Amino acid sequence: MNGETEKKLLDQTRVYQSSLLGNSVPIVELRGIIRQVAPTDVTVLITGESGSGKEVVANEIYKQSSRQNKPFIIVNCGAIPEGIIESELFGHIKGSFTGATENRKGYFEAANNGTILLDEIGELPLQTQVKFLRVIENGEYIKVGGTRSEKVDVRIIAATNKNLEQLIAANSFREDLYYRLRSINIVIPPLRERKDDIKILFDHFVKQFTERNSVEFMGVSAEAMNYIINYNWPGNVRQLKNFIESLLTLNRDKIIDEKDVLAQLSIPKAEIMPAGVNGFNKQDERQLLFGALFELKRDIMDIKHQLNSFDDAKHRAEPEDGFFISDDKIDSITYNEFEQELLTYYFNKYNGNINRIADKLKISNRTLYRKFKQYGLKNGKYN
Ligand SMILES: Nc1ncnc2c1ncn2[C@@H]1O[C@H](COP(=O)(O)OP(=O)(O)OP(=O)(O)O)[C@@H](O)[C@H]1O
Ligand SMILES: [Mg+2]
Repeated sequence: MNGETEKKLLDQTRVYQSSLLGNSVPIVELRGIIRQVAPTDVTVLITGESGSGKEVVANEIYKQSSRQNKPFIIVNCGAIPEGIIESELFGHIKGSFTGATENRKGYFEAANNGTILLDEIGELPLQTQVKFLRVIENGEYIKVGGTRSEKVDVRIIAATNKNLEQLIAANSFREDLYYRLRSINIVIPPLRERKDDIKILFDHFVKQFTERNSVEFMGVSAEAMNYIINYNWPGNVRQLKNFIESLLTLNRDKIIDEKDVLAQLSIPKAEIMPAGVNGFNKQDERQLLFGALFELKRDIMDIKHQLNSFDDAKHRAEPEDGFFISDDKIDSITYNEFEQELLTYYFNKYNGNINRIADKLKISNRTLYRKFKQYGLKNGKYN
C-alpha cells in the first residue's frame, strides 16, 4: 500500500460521534438486534432507503463488537470504477497490468482483524460478486495478477438501498450471494414510518448545529413542529438534518413558524396537513387514493383481457398461435387460474422479458414482477 492509498483508507476509517437515536418501536427493536449481532462475526446485510441510517447502524455494530479497536473500513462500491474495483478490494501484484508499478494492498487486507462495510453492494460487478462470495465463505481471495490464495480475518457488513430481489430478476445480482447475505438482514424502516423519532432527531440536530455554528435557536411553534412530523421525508434522516441546518441558518433570532417550515420544504400548505386525531395526513391520503386507483385500473384491464380472451376462445375451434383456453376449462376456470395461464403464456412467448410483457399487457413492471413471483415464474428479466 503506498502513501496515497494509506491516506485514502484512513479517510474512509471515520470516527463517529453520532449513535443510533430514536425511541420508536422499530428503532428500539433494531437496537436489540444490533446488541445480539454485534459481538458475533456473522456477515450482516443492512437495507433501507437512502439517508435512513444504514451507515449509523453499521457503525453501531462495529462499536459494540470485539473488533472496536481494529480498523473499520468503509468502501462505497458504487463510487469505484468497474475496471479497478477488484484491485481496490483485493490488491494487485506489481506488473499485473499497465500502471501496476508496485504491489498494492487492497481494502480487505487493510481491514484484516477489523471490520469492512461494503456500501452500495448492489453496484458490485457480477464477476467481482463471485470473488466476494468466496471471501465471505472462507476469508480467501487472490490478488489481481496473483496466483496465491490470501487469507483474511474480516467481519463483513454490506449495505444497500436497492431491492436486491429486483436486481436478481434483472440478472445483475447473484442469487447465491443474496441468500448468503440475507441470513442476517437488518431492515431500517423509512423515517415516515417511525414518526416518533422525528422530535428526538430534530432536537439532536438542532443542538449539534447551534453548538458547532454559534447560531441561536429561539424555538419552533407547535404547529410548525406538527408539519415537520407529518412531512413524509423521502430523503429520510439525512434530509431532516439538512433541512434543520438551512432552517436555522435562514431564520435566526425568531421563533420558527409553519410558514418558515413550508417555505424551506418548498411545498404548498395543502400538501401536508397537520395530523388529525389518528395522525393521518393529506399525503398519506393521496398515496392511498392513487394506490386504490391503480388497483382499480389494473383490475379493469385484467377483466378486459379476460373477456377478450373468453370471446376469442369461444369463437375458435382449434388452438392457434396465441393465448387460448380450451372449451372444457372455460366454464370452471377461476380468475387466478386464468391470470396464471395468461402470464405463463406471455412469459414463455417473450422469454420472461418483463418490460415487453408489461408493455403488452399494459400493466406496471412492478405488478408484473410481483405476479411472476406469485406464480413461480422464475428468472424474469428486464431486457
Ligand atoms: N437514528 C439516527 N440517529 C442519529 N443520526 C442518524 C440516524 N439515522 C441517520 N442519521 C444521520 O443521518 C445521516 C444519514 O445517515 P446514513 O449515512 O447512515 O444513511 P444511509 O442509509 O447510509 O444513506 P445512503 O443510502 O444515502 O448511503 C447521517 O448524518 C447520520 O448521522
Ligand atoms: Mg450510506
